[in-house]
Amino acid sequence: MSEPVPSPRPRTDRPTALVTGATAGLGARYAAQLAERGHDLVLVARDEERLARSAVELRSRYGVEVEVLPADLSERASLQRVADRVADAARPVDVLVNNAGFGLKQRFADGDLVAHEQMFDVLCRAVMVLSRAAAGAMAARGRGRIVNIASVAGFVAGGGHYSAAKAYVALLTETLHQELSGTGVTATAVAPGFVRTEFHARAGMKSGGTDSPAWLDADEVVRVSLDDAFAGKVLSVPTKRYKALMGVLDVVPRALVRTVWGKATWGAARRHPSGPGQHTLGNTPEQ
Ligand SMILES: NC(=O)c1ccc[n+]([C@@H]2O[C@H](COP(=O)([O-])OP(=O)(O)OC[C@H]3O[C@@H](n4cnc5c(N)ncnc54)[C@H](OP(=O)(O)O)[C@@H]3O)[C@@H](O)[C@H]2O)c1
Repeated sequence: MSEPVPSPRPRTDRPTALVTGATAGLGARYAAQLAERGHDLVLVARDEERLARSAVELRSRYGVEVEVLPADLSERASLQRVADRVADAARPVDVLVNNAGFGLKQRFADGDLVAHEQMFDVLCRAVMVLSRAAAGAMAARGRGRIVNIASVAGFVAGGGHYSAAKAYVALLTETLHQELSGTGVTATAVAPGFVRTEFHARAGMKSGGTDSPAWLDADEVVRVSLDDAFAGKVLSVPTKRYKALMGVLDVVPRALVRTVWGKATWGAARRHPSGPGQHTLGNTPEQ
């Protein structure tokens, strides 16, 4: 990727939101809804042309300022550039949405280690580095919102190491929320179930049946989670269906969850022997 040149933008009185993975799926909806709620934007993703197109559309539709910051968050130098932008006291970021992510159609035990390391870098390391950059800058100003996209998958083992990565995001965010108490800054972990985005197709996973009630609309997930984040909630689980599922997961013994979920996972893998044995929310090769 060539060294990107961040687009300059005039200063306005509006707050600014920085969204990672802002060109597709949930991230594109976070960008649009934050613009609708009166925020200027900084958009982060790898595909520079798509970023530029998104910026043009958001500027013309919502009349806000939009800066593009192309970056591959699995690369440390790129991630540092984004962290520097988040922490820039001269151009405050008021809302950080750590959304960029992807799934892998691979088991953890015998999958490609490099791909799993990239997943760790984007889903965990980038969230950690950017959350910390935001926490310091926002606490110094006495206000700010950090929104980290976890998953219901983070509460059920499976999906290669996707669930573990999302569990990390949820727990890190809860810790941050606690540490920031009284500073005027809040951190919210968002735990969606299945959402209709590009996620599954990009990972080469089947996603038939997306019209079933298990699949959520990205706009609804984003609307609910932004309401929760601006209300300062520590965890946002969009929709009653998934709240109910989380309630069940809270009370059912973990061994039982593992057995039931494991049967679904490995049963699916046996029925589709060419596919890897994982079948978890947000990372579901068999759907
Ligand atoms: N869809 C679901 O069912 C579901 C459920 C629960 C949680 N989630 C989580 O929701 C978040 C958004 O996923 P989505 O479903 O909206 O996926 P998506 O439609 O595939 O969008 C992913 C976005 O992330 C960006 N991205 C991917 N890798 C990146 C990297 N290395 N560096 C920078 N940007 C990168 C992509 O842009 P570029 O390719 O241009 O970089 C794209 O803008 C993820 O964290 C995902 O784990 C999804």
